[in-house]
Amino acid sequence: MNSQPASHATTEVGIASIGLQLPSLAFDVRDLASLRGEDPDKFTIGLGCREMALCSEDEGIVHLALGAARRALDRWDGELDDLGLLVVGTESAVDMSRPLSAWVADGLGLRGAVRSYEVKHACYGGTLALRQAVEWKLSGAAAGKAALVVAADVALYEPGDPGEPTQGAGAVAFVVDVPTIASIDVHSHAWSEPEFDFWRPVGQDFPSVDGPLSLDCYKRAAERCFRRWIEEAGDASLSKLEAVCFHVPFPKMVKKAVLALGESLGWSEEVSRAFYSEKVGPTMGWNLFTGNAYTAALWIAVARTLIGRTEGARLAAFSYGSGFGSELLTLTAGPAAIDGAWARDVETDVANRRLIDVAAYQGLRGEREVAAA
Ligand code: HMG
Repeated sequence: MNSQPASHATTEVGIASIGLQLPSLAFDVRDLASLRGEDPDKFTIGLGCREMALCSEDEGIVHLALGAARRALDRWDGELDDLGLLVVGTESAVDMSRPLSAWVADGLGLRGAVRSYEVKHACYGGTLALRQAVEWKLSGAAAGKAALVVAADVALYEPGDPGEPTQGAGAVAFVVDVPTIASIDVHSHAWSEPEFDFWRPVGQDFPSVDGPLSLDCYKRAAERCFRRWIEEAGDASLSKLEAVCFHVPFPKMVKKAVLALGESLGWSEEVSRAFYSEKVGPTMGWNLFTGNAYTAALWIAVARTLIGRTEGARLAAFSYGSGFGSELLTLTAGPAAIDGAWARDVETDVANRRLIDVAAYQGLRGEREVAAA
């Protein structure tokens, strides 16, 4: 059991276990391009997308969130009784009142002396959930208990919307306790501005997006957060990071943000491109198979990036959620990162999932009748 006595607030807190869950279907963006009469290069080169993860008719947000939670708990050496907090970050909630955490708790059989709730702030909600768990532990309020944090989403746009090639789905769960996989610095850099770049009013099935504004907001948020970090820690501090993960709405967005950041910091284009290809691009290996998983997108990149890291390796994570809120966090790999046991979740789910064709995609989106089996 990982719990610590109630009287001893831990000084180092972070990720003790990771679980991920992807849905059972996927769709190649080149097939979407043929369906929508677009040049496939626009989606693969222009946006940097490859495949989107999609839920079957029998799956949904509860399946993803619960699946990731179960996998994280299976890998943890604590018991359900050792949990004092369950937080789910999502923008795919199924109810305006009952939190998604109640469905997760139900599936896990978790009840009793546990604070259980849902957090919403577009794609930033998962990061907020994780931050709250870390701060709860560090405050001493946890009284030796651990937290279970889930970031889960199903990201769908209206068929034919420019955002459609960026769709995706997935969930990541973390047990927050003794940081055997990675500690999370309590000090971070947040930046928010009230904007309407991407929003989904109550009762509306798909999001409304101001695409160009959303790109500007994302770049501005990254620039503000990194600037605050550099002002405090110095430009050289970036070179001490082994990797820098970003929220991934689509991979090209991340590249655009890094190039804009470099320009604002006075880097040459060559330096910015080298920074991107060495420290940022490789973090998105799994995002190419999930698409945008909203709250989970950044944490899928972090989970991928932690695999195989040696103890003490430093990573940064930039979170962005429309509306907008953003935060730059730093993590330090612990002794269990090298093992990367959670890689199996994604390897298994990608190997087992079914790549659907255009007709099946249209059936799933209600654009055509599905023939009876
Ligand atoms: P669009 O307007 O149809 O695309 O949709 P475009 O015309 O801007 O083209 C995209 C890129 O493809 C451009 O590259 C084109 O030049 C290129 P760029 O000039 O920007 O480098 N292109 C081609 N390249 C190669 N061969 C070709 C070709 N044709 C064009 N033949 C848009 C783009 C991003 C607006 C759309 O996908 C969208 O609305 N996405 C959703 C919004 C989004 O993801 N915003 C990102 C920031 S906001 C965010 O991250 C929050 C979010 O995750 C939600 C949350 O917080 O909850 C979305």
